[in-house]
Amino acid sequence: MEGWHGWDDYAPFYDWENARTVGRRDIRFWQRLAARFGGPVLELGCGTGRVSVPVARTVDGVVGIDRSDAMLHQAQRRVRRGRMDRRLRLVRGDVRSLPFLAASRFQLVMAPYGMLQSLLRDRDLQDTLRSVLGVLRRGGTFAIDLVPDLPRWGEYERRVRLRGRRRGGATRISLIESVRQDRSSQLTIFEQEFVERRGRTRTAHRFSLVFRTLSMRQMTGRLRRAGFTIETVSGDYRGGPWHPGADTWIVVVRKPG
Ligand SMILES: C[S@@+](CC[C@H](N)C(=O)[O-])C[C@H]1O[C@@H](n2cnc3c(N)ncnc32)[C@H](O)[C@@H]1O
Repeated sequence: MEGWHGWDDYAPFYDWENARTVGRRDIRFWQRLAARFGGPVLELGCGTGRVSVPVARTVDGVVGIDRSDAMLHQAQRRVRRGRMDRRLRLVRGDVRSLPFLAASRFQLVMAPYGMLQSLLRDRDLQDTLRSVLGVLRRGGTFAIDLVPDLPRWGEYERRVRLRGRRRGGATRISLIESVRQDRSSQLTIFEQEFVERRGRTRTAHRFSLVFRTLSMRQMTGRLRRAGFTIETVSGDYRGGPWHPGADTWIVVVRKPG
């Protein structure tokens, strides 16, 4: 089981599903952070460009990296639609070994929307933190948004979770989902089946996504051990106080100057 599995299959449905879930509620937060710290900015696991593209409207020198070609293909389409070709660079690569030759170049590294939860083993997280430390400037900022409620999801089998139409209308889509928890490894496993119906044609796309959710104490401990200084820990996108039941966990850390 690998945290980067499944995303190629998910890519054509990612924006459709997320328009119905997270939407744009984190975008202002990332834009403000980028405006405050300035570029160059690196987004880890930029996916379809949901965050990178609006951030690239705010600051110069934005780079998005992702391991999934299919997610990057969706991002490329968004870049072209928004005429952002000159403002955002998309790179295919793995966050565990960031492929940037000039070390210490980024002022801000962002890990939005649970990106670090795709790292399923401690080793993967350690490699990523070491890699981020290497590409950040001295005094640079690493901001992390975690989706903390995954371990609280009840388990279920083949539940229809979403139904709707593709933009334009002719294709109907439904998402049939199963959820399992592997508590000993802190993993949440989603088995997803997207069914597309167009006229009398029915196509099913099946894949799994796995996420690992650490406690806040475990996450901040690993960040400190990797060499970061913890700046703020908050429980929403407006800087509200953190508590274990908060909707979102935001950790902002710094590379020592
Ligand atoms: C939850 S999505 C987030 C996408 C985007 N940041 C957003 O907020 O909409 C996680 C992304 O991380 C990518 N990913 C997972 N593991 C990765 C790895 N080891 N290296 C690079 N990208 C990875 C996936 O391909 C996926 O696009």
